[in-house]
Amino acid sequence: MVLRVIGRKIGFSMKKIILSFVWLFGVSSAVLAGSGDPQAGKEKTTICAACHGPTGDSPAPTFPKLGGQGEGYLIKQMQDMKSGERKVLEMTGFVENLSDQDIADISAFYASQAVTVGQVDPEYIALGEKLYRGGDLDRGIPACSSCHSPTGKGNSLAKFPLLSGQHAEYVGKTLRDFREGIRVNDGDSMIMRATAEKLSNKEIDALSSYINGLH
Ligand code: HEC
Ligand code: HEC
Repeated sequence: MVLRVIGRKIGFSMKKIILSFVWLFGVSSAVLAGSGDPQAGKEKTTICAACHGPTGDSPAPTFPKLGGQGEGYLIKQMQDMKSGERKVLEMTGFVENLSDQDIADISAFYASQAVTVGQVDPEYIALGEKLYRGGDLDRGIPACSSCHSPTGKGNSLAKFPLLSGQHAEYVGKTLRDFREGIRVNDGDSMIMRATAEKLSNKEIDALSSYINGLH
């Protein structure tokens, strides 16, 4: 409830910033969106359901939720896994044989679903909220909300992923992977590597819990 109210309060100024990011990064992805068939995609995800759940609302904390995720972001991740730019051991054998059409259909299916949101650990609310909404200017940490939106819904067109409700354990692992240079598919801007590099373990834990409850 508290999060909602604050989100609405700063929502307007953030909109401007988000719009400029759309302009910077999003133009090319607009062409890709909308080419997938969600019904065909559903049929192609039977095998994925074992880990990610039938609608992408994964029940296990190490398997990311995919429901409601932006189509362009999903397409990019699967293409990156296929090309080896993003290495996911657990998914070996599941993406290599997917065609561009399969990937578009699967992305359209997951994008049309929704996921459950968790609850923020009270211990982490203050620190998580401060970093997510304001960053830390002195240390060069940008506000996460400027790209991932105040409610965590991301920016589909710009391929800034939805974070709202994502498993804290997965978010924590991912931020550490960016920090250690294990995940490197955030492009030439290296925005996530440069950001995660400055985060302590405690800050990562706080952000992860905050994101799990954010909506
Ligand atoms: C054996 C379990 C398993 C199966 C089966 C599996 N995945 Fe995954 N998937 C994972 C794990 C684990 C990750 C996260 C890896 C990491 O930590 O970076 C992941 C990540 C992803 C991501 C990136 C999510 C994000 O937020 O960046 C996408 C997209 C994805 N999987 C799609 C699929 C699709 C489509 C299928 C079926 C064709 C599939 N997965 C099958 C375990 C699995
Ligand atoms: C300038 C824009 C920008 C800012 C600011 C930003 N991010 Fe990101 N973030 C991105 C982009 C773009 C990606 C996707 C990279 C890719 O394509 O793999 C991403 C990916 C992520 C992911 C991986 C999502 C997934 O499903 O695997 C997490 C977690 C994340 N960001 C958290 C944060 C946090 C926490 C902050 C603030 C400390 C933050 N981001 C600040 C742009 C941003």
